[in-house]
Amino acid sequence: MLTKTEAFDAVDVIRIKRDGGRIPDPMIDWVIDAYTRGVVTDEQMSALAMAIFLRGMDREEIVRWTMAMMNSGERLNFSKLTKPTADKHSTGGVGDKITLPLAPLVACFDVAVPQLSGRGLGHTGGTLDKLESIPGWDPNLDSQQIFEMLENGPGAVICAATSGLAPADKKLYALRDVTATVDCIPLIASSIMSKKIAEGTSALVLDVKVGSGAFMRELDQGQKLAETMVALGEDAGVKTSALLTNMSTPLGLTVGNALEVRESVEVLAGGGPEDVVDLTVSLAREMLRLAGKDDVDVRAALSDGRAMDRWNQMISDQGGDPFAPLPVAKHQEQIVAEESGYLSELDAWGVGICAWRLGAGRTRQGEAVQAGAGVEIHAKPGDAVKKGDPLLTLHTDTPERFKRSIEALDGAIKISSDRPTDVPQIILGRAFGSDN
Ligand code: URA
Repeated sequence: MLTKTEAFDAVDVIRIKRDGGRIPDPMIDWVIDAYTRGVVTDEQMSALAMAIFLRGMDREEIVRWTMAMMNSGERLNFSKLTKPTADKHSTGGVGDKITLPLAPLVACFDVAVPQLSGRGLGHTGGTLDKLESIPGWDPNLDSQQIFEMLENGPGAVICAATSGLAPADKKLYALRDVTATVDCIPLIASSIMSKKIAEGTSALVLDVKVGSGAFMRELDQGQKLAETMVALGEDAGVKTSALLTNMSTPLGLTVGNALEVRESVEVLAGGGPEDVVDLTVSLAREMLRLAGKDDVDVRAALSDGRAMDRWNQMISDQGGDPFAPLPVAKHQEQIVAEESGYLSELDAWGVGICAWRLGAGRTRQGEAVQAGAGVEIHAKPGDAVKKGDPLLTLHTDTPERFKRSIEALDGAIKISSDRPTDVPQIILGRAFGSDN
């Protein structure tokens, strides 16, 4: 409820943006703070988020909004570490397990990786859900434990963001998810960067996904989002750059929690699908470059077992058993090729929705996910297939889910008689800060 001590009225803030104006800085600071305190209601913030979605924000407005969200909570400080820090953030995709091999890989080169991660919502997977399929693994660490793992342990840590980090974003992100205001550049950029700046990393590489399985479907939109976030990071003193990467088809050959952990371990063992390895290595090189270490052989640390040693230590330091068998879903069903030819399309959105409906993701916050559920991929765009060949294996504990999951694949699989010539590259573009 509005009290006499409040500096502004939410209705005035909404009206300014509704009419296409620029929200003055003191109003931005107030509305974020008052929303965090519960004085501005969800209804009012929904209206404001929709006004921002429709009217946009200018550069200074986005900066102020981001800083206000960051200031809504605590800020971690890793300045006492004896090594540089580097972090990676993906805008979210299908089969995107890259954080799992990437964090221990970068740590092999004496760069600390504080990877504070989230859960999946909708069709995109979440790193914590994936790791929780490892028996015993606990995502919750306090800042002292994070510091210890970075300084004296494996050098990399993947854990849940502490509840005090950008609480305004926690509330606002949940609200955007149910008010169709997620895919909006000022709101995505400020949401991601408020958390990343609060995490206290000195270098940050953004993996901006582009394609049907991403929030940004078109390359020019992805480029705009990447440039907006890089500028926000640089303004806050964080060395920031971005790779724009292909999310028109799932990454790798697995989508789903335990399935993706299994594939990540294959990468750490020196194997794994080419696209996952290439993206992991590209992001690692970029993180190391920003951290001042560009003269290292990244691939060697995958093939000689150093990254795997770091992974094993990282998982066991958080109570997990890296050698325990991973959960397997109770039921499987195969999708086969209906004709012979070349797989010309395997649409990330369709496969993501399919995995989600199988139980790999949640429909409401707080819901449990199935560790073994998901999709195994047997052919990727460009591969030759014969009629009857298995294309996908669907996994779930609850077979009644198969019907709706298979419906999600309608139109997602295309087979052509000619070999497709335009199979897109994994890296589509880059965005750099002015001094890196
Ligand atoms: N990830 C986030 O953290 N926030 C967004 O708005 C979108 C993706």
